[in-house]
Amino acid sequence: MITIKSQREIELMRKTCALAAKTMEYIAPFVKPGVSTEELNQLCHDFIIANNAYPSPLNYHGFPKSICTSLNEVVCHGIPTKDQILKDGDILNIDITTYLDGFHGDTNKTFLVGKVAPHVEKLVDVTYQCMMAGIATVKPGGHIGDIGAAIQEIAHAHGYSVVEDYCGHGIGREFHEAPQVVHVGKKGTGAMMKPGMTFTIEPMINLGVKETKLLSDGWTVLTKDRKWSAQFEHTILVTETGFDILTLRNEEKTN
Ligand code: MF3
Ligand code: CO
Ligand code: CO
Repeated sequence: MITIKSQREIELMRKTCALAAKTMEYIAPFVKPGVSTEELNQLCHDFIIANNAYPSPLNYHGFPKSICTSLNEVVCHGIPTKDQILKDGDILNIDITTYLDGFHGDTNKTFLVGKVAPHVEKLVDVTYQCMMAGIATVKPGGHIGDIGAAIQEIAHAHGYSVVEDYCGHGIGREFHEAPQVVHVGKKGTGAMMKPGMTFTIEPMINLGVKETKLLSDGWTVLTKDRKWSAQFEHTILVTETGFDILTLRNEEKTN
């Protein structure tokens, strides 16, 4: 069942999502060659706690850290560690989820670390475009399948693949609720979008094959061919006329 949030619940979703966005803005200047993913984890953890919230990933089904950090060929759910040090040319996805006043807000961004190879920078740019094209389809009476259709059209036009093993999700009082938001699809298929629904759109786009491999730590997801992968994520509200991006950052508002 897909929950419809009341006006009061929507206000609380706005607050937790604004904090998730603020945490992403806070961590951005620290994402530089030489920093460890564990340092980034600790900084985000402390920031979220200082804002009277809780980092949703911590102990979620046993996840050991407060954010996910997914480097290069890691598709998603990477675990921050002390010995993983960022270097020039890397791409790092930071996935932040906050739990504030009973509601979750979920967002992620792929950062360029120093100077990145042009074909990798293009992958990251196109992945952002894919997310935004998916978001642009959101409106009452639209269908969840419209989102994946828009995303796959752009990704495939550039010769990239779209991960199908992991998807977006409804979000609210639960971290992961119905519906599943698959990032491939056919226009007009799937559940109908209604005002008050909140869900994430978080396409994972690969330079090579779409297939993934789960590491023996039970969390880290790699591309099967070890080619690099990028991702962006926002939490979206369906409004009476279209959508609101609840986790939008200031840097995105002028675009
Ligand atoms: N934030 C991720 C998502 O976008 C989920 C992370 S679950 C965790 O859905 F346990 F790995 F943190
Ligand atoms: Co999510
Ligand atoms: Co997330």
